[in-house]
Amino acid sequence: MNSTEKVEFEQVSENKEKIVVTSSKKNLEGKLCECLKNRELPDYLLYTGAGGAKNWLKLDGAETFPVARQLKVLLEKNLESIVRFIPTGMSLVSVGVGNGEKERIFLEALVRKNLAENPASGKVSIRYYPIDINSELVDIALEKVENLPVEKKGIVGFIEDMSTLKKNWRLPVLFCILGNTFCNYEPEFILQLVRENLEQGDLFFFDANLLPSEGTEAQSARRSVLGTYASRENALFNMYPLLHYGMAPEDFDFELLLAHVNSRIGGVYRTRKSLYILKDTELTIGAETIGFREGDVIHMGFTYKYTYDQITAFLEICGFEILKAFLSEGRANAIILAKKRI
Ligand SMILES: C[S@@+](CC[C@H](N)C(=O)[O-])C[C@H]1O[C@@H](n2cnc3c(N)ncnc32)[C@H](O)[C@@H]1O
Repeated sequence: MNSTEKVEFEQVSENKEKIVVTSSKKNLEGKLCECLKNRELPDYLLYTGAGGAKNWLKLDGAETFPVARQLKVLLEKNLESIVRFIPTGMSLVSVGVGNGEKERIFLEALVRKNLAENPASGKVSIRYYPIDINSELVDIALEKVENLPVEKKGIVGFIEDMSTLKKNWRLPVLFCILGNTFCNYEPEFILQLVRENLEQGDLFFFDANLLPSEGTEAQSARRSVLGTYASRENALFNMYPLLHYGMAPEDFDFELLLAHVNSRIGGVYRTRKSLYILKDTELTIGAETIGFREGDVIHMGFTYKYTYDQITAFLEICGFEILKAFLSEGRANAIILAKKRI
């Protein structure tokens, strides 16, 4: 990925500022055209553009898609124990912040802890940096904490540009990737990126929806994944850019499969998503028209489904030490607080 080109500042309101870090991907409509011409639709394009925020918030609210909500419940349940591990005065950075609900819960607990430790001052010194590729989601996350006594600076940018994003935050940081977002990246890519950009004294906090340990044989793995991703709401979420730019729902089909792939720690499961074009059709994006033929296949992003032990193995080989981990019943979800090994 190319380096960042430009940074723009915008005062959202008093005590609240938003920065737009425009990157090589700044022309997102152009990027969508280019990808579709190559018969690709990477997942980040599901969250961008005119309706990207609405697309995600709708899926997140759907009864049939409880992934991010289950992770929120696990966070709430273990909040006090996690917060005990967070030194006073740390900044909270959350990339892929979405609507910022989990961060609000976290910040409330950090504020309480700071006040309890320093009751005489009546003040807390916490900075919060909600970061997302979707500017609307950054606004929503900022609004969610409007009445909390923390300094806020929203950032619109890509996690891949972390080395530029970090110039905007005050150290030390608690760097968060929540809502199962960790599983949408190649494990060694994301862990190396985080490791390279965290300083000594920073902490790394993330969550994951897991493959229960007893479900590692192919059949139960498939059942677990299909149970999570096979709903109509999830299909619509993945079909959104094609529908938004005018394709009819009957002109294509969404398919989700589970693949077993090799990695440095052995075989792991990963979803494989595709859109199948069922009839010759065209899409118009801005000034561009893209033609599709019956039988074309558009390849999409993926989600890894790890067991807890596989995640700990990746953390180990990528130079992280786990400080605290919390698992839900049946090892279906995990939240992990780690730091880089020096
Ligand atoms: C699965 S949602 C999780 C949202 C939220 N953290 C939660 O727990 O509900 C992923 C979020 O990451 C954002 N996102 C996707 N690709 C990104 C990227 N490359 N860099 C930063 N944010 C990204 C999306 O806009 C979306 O808000």
